[in-house]
Amino acid sequence: MALLEIKNLDVRYIMKERQVLACDDVSLSVEEGDSIGIVGESGSGKSTMAMCVLGLLPKDTTRTSGEILFQGEDLVKLTEQGFAKLRWKSLSAVFQKSMNSLSPVHKVCKQMFDIYRVHTPGADENACKAMAGALLDKVNLPQSVLNLYPHQLSGGMIQRISIALCLMFDPALIILDEATTALDVVTESQILRELTKLREASGITCMMITHNMAVVAGSCDKVAVMYAGRLVETGMTARVLTEPRHPYTQGLLASFPTFEGKKQALKGIPGSLPDLSGEIPGCVFAYRCPHAAERCFNEKPVMTEHEPGWKSACWLGPR
Ligand SMILES: Nc1ncnc2c1ncn2[C@@H]1O[C@H](COP(=O)(O)OP(=O)(O)OP(=O)(O)O)[C@@H](O)[C@H]1O
Ligand SMILES: [Mg+2]
Repeated sequence: MALLEIKNLDVRYIMKERQVLACDDVSLSVEEGDSIGIVGESGSGKSTMAMCVLGLLPKDTTRTSGEILFQGEDLVKLTEQGFAKLRWKSLSAVFQKSMNSLSPVHKVCKQMFDIYRVHTPGADENACKAMAGALLDKVNLPQSVLNLYPHQLSGGMIQRISIALCLMFDPALIILDEATTALDVVTESQILRELTKLREASGITCMMITHNMAVVAGSCDKVAVMYAGRLVETGMTARVLTEPRHPYTQGLLASFPTFEGKKQALKGIPGSLPDLSGEIPGCVFAYRCPHAAERCFNEKPVMTEHEPGWKSACWLGPR
């Protein structure tokens, strides 16, 4: 059984005058020990999917259908109390703006100890200190940061603390939503290396939402490509990045500069995302796809497996 099995997930944001279908029939399987990258341009529904898994979408303005089976339990039906038991212990997340998730008026130690005590009733000062010390070691931070306030730390140090916090209870799955995007490349690569080591040592499963293909190439064994709320391609990173099959994945990869070969202008993908408040009967990418045929505008393509574990949703098949 997969650790996380998302089945036909639809998520709609309900606004006064319109609705946005941010996740449209998304099905994705994450096995224990996987490190899966979720890529796709801005607005394609990556964070919405992650927030839905974490139970963090506002219930009054979103409508969700489908199933999200995590360790066999359907998260779509889970109550807030149910999520409170899962979060931190089994499911954890780090977001891009971690600075905002730490309290500015408390020292790092207090914030770490408080979280620990909520989930470990009766933990004394020594147990808290031992826990904090071990976590800081894991993310390569000195013990001295415990006595500092968040504003006294650099962005990279705060991201490390957020990663440390999310590892506190050895969760089965951690979701990193652009957790290293705002960092300089040196700090980013250090954090990613540490994360890979931690993953290898403790078998944590990782979902990494990123815009950076280099992060996917270096840190993820699998990749899922999203466009306009739909998954368009999933597979092993080594295969998808070298022989992308969906025209959107091909366009996305052609939008990244390479260091090798002759200098050439970046291709990019002309056009922009379709309006997600309207019904799109065919392929969501058809209007920007250089290969689109008539069928692509009228019929929704089905995810088809071309090789074990490698799927794409394109009527024109592998190209
Ligand atoms: N709270 C909200 N209310 C209404 N619409 C929203 C809300 N949050 C996101 N959306 C819409 O849902 C769609 C998907 O947004 P989402 O944030 O999931 O994309 P993303 O892939 O994470 O983008 P980015 O790479 O920029 O973070 C977008 O059209 C966005 O405008
Ligand atoms: Mg996002």
